[in-house]
Amino acid sequence: MPADLVIGAQWGDEGKAKVIDYLSKEIDIIARYQGGANAGHTVVVHGKKYIFHLVPSGVIYPNTICVIGNGVVLDTDYLMKECDDLCKEDFDVYNKLYISDSCHIILPLHGIIDAHREKNSSPGTKIGTTGKGIGICYADKMMRIGIRTGDVLDEETLRDKLKLFLARKNEELVKLYGVEPVGFEPIFESLKKFADKFKGKIINTSYYLNEELRKGKRVLLEGAQGVGLDIDFGTYPFVTSSNPTTGGALTGSGIGFQHLSKIYGISKAYATRVGEGPFPTELFGEDADNMRKLGHEYGSTTGRPRRCGWFDLEMIKHSIRICGINQLVITKIDVLSTYPTIPVGIGYELNGKRLDYMPSCGMDKVKVIYENLPGWNTDITGINRFEDLPANCQSYLKYLNEKIGVPISIISTGPDRKDTIVM
Ligand code: IMP
Repeated sequence: MPADLVIGAQWGDEGKAKVIDYLSKEIDIIARYQGGANAGHTVVVHGKKYIFHLVPSGVIYPNTICVIGNGVVLDTDYLMKECDDLCKEDFDVYNKLYISDSCHIILPLHGIIDAHREKNSSPGTKIGTTGKGIGICYADKMMRIGIRTGDVLDEETLRDKLKLFLARKNEELVKLYGVEPVGFEPIFESLKKFADKFKGKIINTSYYLNEELRKGKRVLLEGAQGVGLDIDFGTYPFVTSSNPTTGGALTGSGIGFQHLSKIYGISKAYATRVGEGPFPTELFGEDADNMRKLGHEYGSTTGRPRRCGWFDLEMIKHSIRICGINQLVITKIDVLSTYPTIPVGIGYELNGKRLDYMPSCGMDKVKVIYENLPGWNTDITGINRFEDLPANCQSYLKYLNEKIGVPISIISTGPDRKDTIVM
C-alpha cells in the first residue's frame, strides 16, 4: 500500500492536524518526520480540543500506530509528559508509539543556548524561534556530536557519550554564553527513565515502516511547520532548522520514494506566520488585528499572536513545485466570511520586474500584485457540502484551483472534525 504525506504549504499552522485527524481513520500507521516540540498540532473532536507537540496527532484514532521518525529532534522529558497527559485522557499511547533509534535528543541546554542566542542577537537577525532548542539540536546533529535515542538503550554507551557531549557543550555554555555548566547526573537519570518508559519501543523505524508498507499497511507521514520555514526552500534565515518538504519526509522517515502516493499541501484560505521574516501579503494595524481575532490566530506552542495576511498564490505554487503536492487542502475558509472583498496575492515584482516564481533571495523586497475577489458575507461555519457554500465562496475556491492547477480535495469550514468538505 502507498504512503500519503501531509505538508504545510505556508509558514506552519495551516491546520495540518485537523486534516491528519480526518485522514487517519483509514490509516494504519502515522509518522512524524521532522521538527520537534516547536510544533503545536490542534485537533477538535466533538467540541474537545487536543494539542499535540511531539506525538503524531493521529494517536486519538484507536486503530493507528504512531511513529516518531529519525528526522525528529526529541525532547524526551517533554515526550514523557505529553504521553502521561494523553494516558490521563485514556489514549493508550505507550502501547501504540514507536520511536526511531536515530532521533537526536533535545536536552534543556539546547533551549538555554537557543534563548541566549535570540536574546543577544543584533537587530534584524533575531529569528523569533519557539525557544525549544530546535536549531541548536539540529546543529549538534550536523556537527556529529549529538546524543541519539538509540544511545539510551545501553547504560554504558549513554554514560560515555553523554560525558563527552557535556564536556563540549559546557565549554560552550560557559565560554560563549557565560552561563552555568549543566550537571551530568540529572540528565543521565532522566534519559534512563525515558529508556525505561519506552523499552521495546525505540526501534529502527525506517525498517519497520518499509516492512509494514511491503505488507500492505497504509502509512501517513505528518509534517510539522511548512515549506516557508524549510531550511533550504523557506525564507532563510527566518526558518526552522529542518526540511518540512517532501525531501525531508523521505529522509526523516527513511521510506523509499516509490511508496509515496497522495501528497497533501495544506494552506489556510489566507496566510499567517509567527516569528520574524518576510511575509509579502502581510496586513498591519487594525486589519491584522481583525483577521487575528476572526481566525483566533495565536500560536499553540508559544501563545504568540500570529501575523496575518492574504492568500499568496506564488508561495503555494512554490510549495507545490518543490514538494510535488498533488492534493490541495484549504482550511479556515469560514474566517473570510465577513469580508466584502477578498484580495489574493497573484504574483510578485522584484526591482520592477515581474517574477514567475518565489525568489530565494529578496523576499523582503517583493511587491505583491493583488486581485480582489468578491466576498460572500454569510457565515459558512460547519458547512460540509460544496454545493451548500455561497456562490462567491465557491467562486473563490474555484479561482484558487484554476490559478494553482492542483485539485482542491478537502475544504475545512470550522475547527471540528465534522466541519469538512471532501470534494
Ligand atoms: P524554531 O523552529 O523554534 O527554531 O523557530 C524558527 C522559526 O520557525 C520561528 O519563526 C518560529 O516561529 C517558526 N516555527 C517553528 N515551529 C513552528 C510551528 O509549528 N508553526 C509556526 N511557526 C513555527
